[in-house]
Amino acid sequence: NVLLSGTHTHCGPAGYFQFTLFMISSKGYIKSAIQPLVNGIVKSIDRAHSQMRPGRIFRSRGDLEDSSLNRSPHSYLNNPEDERLRYKSNTDKQMTVLKFTDLDGDGIGMISWFAVHAVSMNYTNRMVSSDNMGFASYLLEQDKNPGELPGQGGFVAGFSSSNLGDVSPNTRGPHCVNTGLPCDYLNSSCPVGGTKMCQAFGPGNDMFESTKIIGHNIYRKAKELYANAVEELTGFLHSAHQWVNMTDVTVQINNTHTVRTCKPALGHSFAAGTIDGGGDLNFTQGAVDGDPFWDGIRDALVGAPSNETQECHHPKPILFSTGEMNWPLPWHPQIVDVQIITIGSVAVVAVPGEITTMSGRRLREAVKQAFRDTEVVIAGLSNMYTHYITTYEEYQVQRYEGASTIYGPHTLSAYIQKYRGLARAIAQDQVSELPVGPQPPFFTKNLFNLLPAASVDGKPANASFGDVLQQVYPVYRQRDKTFVTVEIYNNVTESWEVVHTDASWETRFHWLKGSNRRSNATVEWFIPLTAPNASYRIRHFGHHKQMNGLQPVITPYEGVSDIFRVAASFYY
Ligand SMILES: *[C@@H]1O[C@H](CO)[C@@H](O)[C@H](O)[C@H]1NC(C)=O
Ligand SMILES: *[C@@H]1O[C@H](CO)[C@@H](O)[C@H](O)[C@H]1NC(C)=O
Ligand SMILES: *[C@@H]1O[C@H](CO)[C@@H](O)[C@H](O)[C@H]1NC(C)=O
Ligand SMILES: *[C@@H]1O[C@H](CO)[C@@H](O)[C@H](O)[C@H]1NC(C)=O
Ligand SMILES: *[C@@H]1O[C@H](CO)[C@@H](O)[C@H](O)[C@H]1NC(C)=O
Ligand SMILES: *[C@@H]1O[C@H](CO)[C@@H](O)[C@H](O)[C@H]1NC(C)=O
Ligand SMILES: *[C@@H]1O[C@H](CO)[C@@H](O)[C@H](O)[C@H]1NC(C)=O
Ligand SMILES: *[C@@H]1O[C@H](CO)[C@@H](O)[C@H](O)[C@H]1NC(C)=O
Ligand SMILES: *[C@@H]1O[C@H](CO)[C@@H](O)[C@H](O)[C@H]1NC(C)=O
Ligand SMILES: *[C@@H]1O[C@H](CO)[C@@H](O)[C@H](O)[C@H]1NC(C)=O
Repeated sequence: NVLLSGTHTHCGPAGYFQFTLFMISSKGYIKSAIQPLVNGIVKSIDRAHSQMRPGRIFRSRGDLEDSSLNRSPHSYLNNPEDERLRYKSNTDKQMTVLKFTDLDGDGIGMISWFAVHAVSMNYTNRMVSSDNMGFASYLLEQDKNPGELPGQGGFVAGFSSSNLGDVSPNTRGPHCVNTGLPCDYLNSSCPVGGTKMCQAFGPGNDMFESTKIIGHNIYRKAKELYANAVEELTGFLHSAHQWVNMTDVTVQINNTHTVRTCKPALGHSFAAGTIDGGGDLNFTQGAVDGDPFWDGIRDALVGAPSNETQECHHPKPILFSTGEMNWPLPWHPQIVDVQIITIGSVAVVAVPGEITTMSGRRLREAVKQAFRDTEVVIAGLSNMYTHYITTYEEYQVQRYEGASTIYGPHTLSAYIQKYRGLARAIAQDQVSELPVGPQPPFFTKNLFNLLPAASVDGKPANASFGDVLQQVYPVYRQRDKTFVTVEIYNNVTESWEVVHTDASWETRFHWLKGSNRRSNATVEWFIPLTAPNASYRIRHFGHHKQMNGLQPVITPYEGVSDIFRVAASFYY
């Protein structure tokens, strides 16, 4: 009955997922990336479990406009017209909120689902960020835990992924950044510069502002729904889980025909990327013909796909036949989790991938049929990651999402069949009779790591680690943008108190790698207008590595700025 669902960010550490494809960008399996993730997740579950007490749950629902758009409308339009006519938009605008209170009615937390990609931050950002969804969570937790630092305080605000597969937060949409003209509608490429030049922007003027606006919109809506949640959830909790070999599912599509899922494979248009970040090479979205040049390179480097896999994935031209690539470990998972948790009249469908708008609607409808008066929500990016899930019709168009639907054109039909089975088992109280399914592998051998160990850190002879290179000015006004610290001097207790950490939206921490193994850190503090008139300082903490003979020694250091004042801005 544990469900792990990612809030989704593209701005985090990598190297924690044991299938080869996912270890390429991080040059291997990075233990120092996975350990804190596992520790943090386990700790949060432990903490929640140890604080378990009776409470009540309320539900609320509403629409959030102006915060999402469909990034593959051409694929969406390939869905049957009568189906499309049942919906007023090509993305789901609905947000569902569950409000948790104790028996006195005091709020202790909330969870919400809304379908939008967390890619307001684009791939030029090098700072760890939880993107728009994380910012929404940050804002609501700051609201409910006044005076607490990020991640502290009793109230937990969870913002979950949903059917966001084809949904972008970059609401000004795509255009060619080199010419200002619209991108090609079918393949999202530009006459000069191709895919890379076709970028979606907005609603802000840069990625920070866009993250802030979308995150704020999501926060505002969730806060409103939380405040108005009065419909109480009653009844039982149920959980049904199965492992499924997704390469091996047969689906009866009508009285006479069955179809099958395929071994995993990625199409050519996977390498094109999307309007939220295009690929570097000359791939475009919507490719249904291979490219002899790239096919030749593929055959030489990783091998050609088998005829069976090619036929199974038709019309996808296969770029990587990952289901047939097993060195040094399988490139993609075969065994995935399917899971449904019901909380009274809400069913949470945990999907192991990024499912498109229309696919999510079909899945919700199929699950709903098994229950009476139940609201079905999709929790995307849950438990396992298998890229995208499109409808059969969207798949035919082979834009990025279709090319990344790795188990072939009938992937969605297979999932619908499996989730319908889970839903019926719950509805008929037969969960214990569900087969567990084949156990997924857990790899302990062949985990490679090509990332060299961090080298020793250097410094000029006359300097110490932690030296302040550029001092602060003695006084700042709130409207000046500059480098700052984040501790306030409390004259009553005569001590320094932390007002912001690196998790605060108000701060940015840049690590700048230089030559001669020297690196600098820059701290920025965007001083809020509400910052009290007081004395402040900025501190920076780090570690440097040196050799003691043949032994590397890692030593902590800290740097502290001079004390400075923030004074009210009378002069504006
Ligand atoms: C994209 O599609 C347009 C037609 O809509 C075509 O002219 C153009 O060549 C295509 N671009 C690429 C790179 O395939
Ligand atoms: C990313 O956002 C920055 C602004 O914050 C912009 O300058 C840059 O062009 C964007 N890059 C892409 C690939 O969208
Ligand atoms: C999944 O099914 C395929 C096709 O039947 C089979 O070859 C493969 O061994 C199965 N995978 C696992 C991990 O059981
Ligand atoms: C069943 O589906 C197949 C494949 O889509 C189709 O060719 C056939 O006509 C369908 N049969 C019926 C009875 O609908
Ligand atoms: C991509 O570039 C290669 C090498 O220049 C070329 O052979 C190939 O035709 C190009 N493909 C497309 C779709 O433009
Ligand atoms: C795959 O199909 C092609 C074309 O039909 C054929 O020439 C080739 O021998 C087949 N390869 C295998 C391994 O069956
Ligand atoms: C170290 O010495 C150099 C050259 O004499 C000088 O420019 C620099 O300011 C010194 N740095 C520190 C931190 O004292
Ligand atoms: C706090 O104390 C410092 C040092 O004693 C003093 O300079 C400053 O004016 C005091 N600030 C306030 C807001 O009282
Ligand atoms: C670090 O700061 C020093 C002194 O300001 C400067 O000379 C050097 O170029 C900086 N290095 C990096 C990587 O920014
Ligand atoms: C800020 O605090 C200083 C020191 O206590 C005081 O002199 C100054 O008038 C204060 N400014 C404002 C705007 O309150």
